[in-house]
Amino acid sequence: MHFQALAVAALGSLAVAAPAPTRSSDLVERGSSCTFTSASQASASAKSCSNIVLKNIKVPAGETLDLSKAKDGATITFEGTTSFGYKEWKGPLIRFGGKDITIQQASGAVIDGDGSRWWDGKGTNGGKKKPKFIYAHKLQSSTIKGLHVKNSPVQVFSVQGNDVHLTDITIDNSDGDSNGGHNTDAFDVSESNGVYITGANVKNQDDCLAINSGENIQFTGATCSGGHGISIGSIGGRSSNTVKNVKIADSTVIDSDNGIRIKTISGATGSVSGVTYDNITLKNIKKKGIIIEQDYKNGGPTGKPTTGVPITDLTVSDIKGSVASSATPIYILCGKGACSDWSWSGVSLSGGKSSSKCQNVPSPAAC
Ligand SMILES: *[C@@H]1O[C@H](CO)[C@@H](O)[C@H](O)[C@H]1NC(C)=O
Repeated sequence: MHFQALAVAALGSLAVAAPAPTRSSDLVERGSSCTFTSASQASASAKSCSNIVLKNIKVPAGETLDLSKAKDGATITFEGTTSFGYKEWKGPLIRFGGKDITIQQASGAVIDGDGSRWWDGKGTNGGKKKPKFIYAHKLQSSTIKGLHVKNSPVQVFSVQGNDVHLTDITIDNSDGDSNGGHNTDAFDVSESNGVYITGANVKNQDDCLAINSGENIQFTGATCSGGHGISIGSIGGRSSNTVKNVKIADSTVIDSDNGIRIKTISGATGSVSGVTYDNITLKNIKKKGIIIEQDYKNGGPTGKPTTGVPITDLTVSDIKGSVASSATPIYILCGKGACSDWSWSGVSLSGGKSSSKCQNVPSPAAC
C-alpha cells in the first residue's frame, strides 16, 4: 500500500512538474536515458525511459524494485551494487516484465541479496519468511544477459514468459553452503512457451533448473555446482501440469545431490513429453546420478509410483562422468506403463552402487 502510494505520487509529480524530478539526485535524465539511484523513482518512472540505468540502488526493506512496466524495447542496465533492506516477507525483491526488453549489467556490477540475514537452514519450509528474489514474469521476446546475482534469501529466478532468453547469468549462492542457505533454486520455470537459458553458472543449494510446466524450453551450456541437479518437476497438482519439448544439453553438474532428474507427483495428473537430456557431464554426485521417479508427494518420495503423469518420448544420451561411492548412478521408478518411448544411449557413469529398487523401466533404459 505504502509503496504503491509512493509510486503514484512520484509519477504524478513527474507528470506535472517534468522535467525536474522532486529529488534530482535520484534521477538524471538525458534524452530518453534515465539513471536512477532510488528504487521508488525507478519503479515509478521506468515506463517513460527507453534506456534505464540502475546505479547502486538500495532497495528499501519490504519493497520491490519493480521494472515490470518498462516501455517496449527498453534496455535496463544494472550498475554497481544493487542491495536490499531486511524484512521477513514474500518478495519479490525485483520484478521484470514487458516486451522486447533487454536487461544487462555494467562490468563488475552485482545484485546482492545478502541472503545470510534470512538463512536458517529451513528455506521455504519454515523459520523466517524469506523473500523470493527475481520474478521474470510476463516477459515477452526479451533477454536477460550477463547478470551476476549473489546470495539469494531463497529461490532466485522465477521465469514465466514467452520467448525469454537468459544468457550467461552467474548465480553465486556458495556462501549459503555452510551458512544455512536452503531452497535456493536458480531457475524455476513455469507456464512458459519459449525459455532459453544458456551459459548459466550456478552455485547454490537446490535445483539448478526446475521446470514445473511449459513448453519449448532449452537449458544449455550450464555449470551447476553444490545443488540438487537439473530437474523437471515436480509435475502435478498445479494449475498447469504439462511439460513438453525440453532440451537440456552440453552442461556439467558438480558436487550436487543429483545429476539430472524428473519427478512427478504421486496420484496427480499431467504429462511430460519430448524431453531430451544430451551431453551432460556429472562429477561427485552424492545421491543419484540420473533419477526419474513418479512417486513424489509432500516434498518426498513415497516409493509407490503412480501413472497419472506419464513420461513419454524421453531421450537420454551421452551422460557421462562419475557419482560418489555412496551414490546410486541410475534410479528409475515408473508406474506400470507410465514411462514409454524412451531413447537411451551413451550413458556411462562410474562409481556408486546400482539400485535394486527400480520399477517398470522401459527398454532400452536400464538401472
Ligand atoms: C558437450 O558439452 C560440453 C560442455 O559441457 C561442450 O564443451 C562440448 O562441446 C559438448 N560436446 C558436443 C559434442 O556438443
